[in-house]
Amino acid sequence: MNILEIKNLSVGFDIDIERENKFFYALNNINISFEEGKIHAIAGESGCGKSVFINTILKLLPKNAQIKSGEIFFRGEDILKYKDNDFRLMRGRKIALIPQDPFMSLNPLYTIENQLREVKDDIGVIKNALNEVRINNVENVLKSYPHELSGGMKQRIIIAMALISNAELILADEPTTALDVSVSNSILDLLLNLKNKGKTIILVTHDLSIVYNYCDSATIMYLGDIVEENKCSILFKNPLHPYTKALLNALPNERGKKLQNIKGTISPITDIIAGCKFHPRCDFVMDKCKTQKPFLTDNCACFLCSK
Ligand SMILES: Nc1ncnc2c1ncn2[C@@H]1O[C@H](COP(=O)(O)OP(=O)(O)OP(=O)(O)O)[C@@H](O)[C@H]1O
Ligand SMILES: [Mg+2]
Repeated sequence: MNILEIKNLSVGFDIDIERENKFFYALNNINISFEEGKIHAIAGESGCGKSVFINTILKLLPKNAQIKSGEIFFRGEDILKYKDNDFRLMRGRKIALIPQDPFMSLNPLYTIENQLREVKDDIGVIKNALNEVRINNVENVLKSYPHELSGGMKQRIIIAMALISNAELILADEPTTALDVSVSNSILDLLLNLKNKGKTIILVTHDLSIVYNYCDSATIMYLGDIVEENKCSILFKNPLHPYTKALLNALPNERGKKLQNIKGTISPITDIIAGCKFHPRCDFVMDKCKTQKPFLTDNCACFLCSK
């Protein structure tokens, strides 16, 4: 069953260009479904729209953003139609966020205990959740303020909050980017644990090795478009889109093998690129890629895939 279904979602920003406000798309007509009880990756380089996507689901977009079209069905109900107050009840309770910087979600003025009690005022449940996220010195941590804890510890607290709240859908936006590798792996293991409890996780990352090791399905984005999506078991064996292939070639897998950088860089959304947006960087570019946009068909948005 799908817990979340997104239809024709287009989001963009009003941006001041030479003192004139112009609108630019950051997400173009996104259609995607997320099966319950899995870890789904959203992957792509910096600036491809991963955070805009997550923040749209959470209705946490900045003031200059506009949702131009689309529906976001959470358990069959379009949450974009919810009034802000109704949605606030859902955020944190049914849908939780694990942000890149856990400081953003923790209030520096309150102890961890106070903040966890805000979610559920039951110390038994709180202590269980802290054990679950493998925090040993529970009593000390409860008395601490966020600044007294390490980044990894703060991230554990955020995951504990998701556990306490009983959220069904957890959106994790680069939850381990700020952490060193060993701490990062232990946080990712906790996400696996959440999945084993039946939660659904959408994990945003630019690191395909994380996708390979932890996720069931992956959606590859490029400049606001989904360029490829599939189960990880298929995608890593048989990547179709040149961008996915390029990302995989840039991944260290064999010792001594030279990594291939993707040529060029991702453009800002203010650059309008005709045809396939990846064509300026693509090794397989054809004439029609420069003028016609390939749509996502059979898991891939590239003319070479639909051949
Ligand atoms: N408030 C804003 N105003 C204008 N442009 C914005 C705004 N927020 C994001 N953007 C632009 O939208 C595009 C997508 O941004 P987004 O933050 O979703 O990228 P991302 O994939 O999450 O990147 P990263 O990996 O660096 O976090 C980028 O070009 C970004 O500059
Ligand atoms: Mg981001």
